[in-house]
Amino acid sequence: MSFKGKVALVTGAASGIGRSIALAFGREGARVVAADVLVEGGEETVRLVKEAGGEAIFIKTDVSSAAEVEALIDGILESYGRLDYACNNAGIEGVLALTADYPEEIWRRVLDINLTGVWLCMKHQLPVMLAQGGGAIVNMSSILGLVGYANASAYVAAKHGLIGLTKTAAVEYATRGIRVNAVCPAFIETPMLKRAGLLDNPEFYRAVVELHPVKRLGTPEEVAGAVVWLCSDAASFVTGHALLVDGGYVAR
Ligand SMILES: NC(=O)c1ccc[n+]([C@@H]2O[C@H](COP(=O)([O-])OP(=O)(O)OC[C@H]3O[C@@H](n4cnc5c(N)ncnc54)[C@H](O)[C@@H]3O)[C@@H](O)[C@H]2O)c1
Repeated sequence: MSFKGKVALVTGAASGIGRSIALAFGREGARVVAADVLVEGGEETVRLVKEAGGEAIFIKTDVSSAAEVEALIDGILESYGRLDYACNNAGIEGVLALTADYPEEIWRRVLDINLTGVWLCMKHQLPVMLAQGGGAIVNMSSILGLVGYANASAYVAAKHGLIGLTKTAAVEYATRGIRVNAVCPAFIETPMLKRAGLLDNPEFYRAVVELHPVKRLGTPEEVAGAVVWLCSDAASFVTGHALLVDGGYVAR
């Protein structure tokens, strides 16, 4: 319970990796704020955190809306009066299409949520952490923030951009008690992969497993462990880092 008395925000907390991160923060004793566009899933995450003995609230938020992100941070301050950790995890996959064929509307939506949404969250999280004298931010990038992937130009561009944003903020706030890092998971079994058709297609699934030297996909809990560690005092000298949680995918 090393995070007792602390407050942790997780965006995209209604599902998959975000839900696991919310649960992990709760287990460490933090008061958890789950934010998402999905009300039912967000409330279920809160229920699960409480069932495990933790404390949590849900605030409905679309991270691509400046007004809603501002209202989220105001809501956190109203409820808990502080913000110590933020995991900017909300994201969408977009569609699969060659770069020249990528639909402009979807390109803009992916960038709006996966990159601008994280910047909007940081824009409002950083002043609160500065006023408190410290905090830790973890942005959810991907192995696709480090390597390309055919037919996923918008997603890959956004996730690469996130690493640049993370490094820049890390440098800017390093002497003011705020650490900013990114996590880069490989393929993790979540509803996102189900929507991409990967979990229902044995051949596709086996081919993707083969891309990971450990010969399996990752779990949301394995990503959550990395996020919690990056926020903890054990990572006090770690900032501006993009931490692979990828079963060796990028090492091949
Ligand atoms: N699953 C993977 O293989 C994988 C790998 C690397 C990185 N990631 C990243 O991890 C993060 C979580 O993905 P996941 O696999 O858990 O997917 P998921 O679809 O299960 O969860 C994503 C969550 O984000 C929420 N969300 C989407 N748009 C939002 C918005 N505008 N505002 C607020 N919330 C919004 C969704 O409602 C959902 O609850 C994403 O950023 C994703 O890109 C996933």
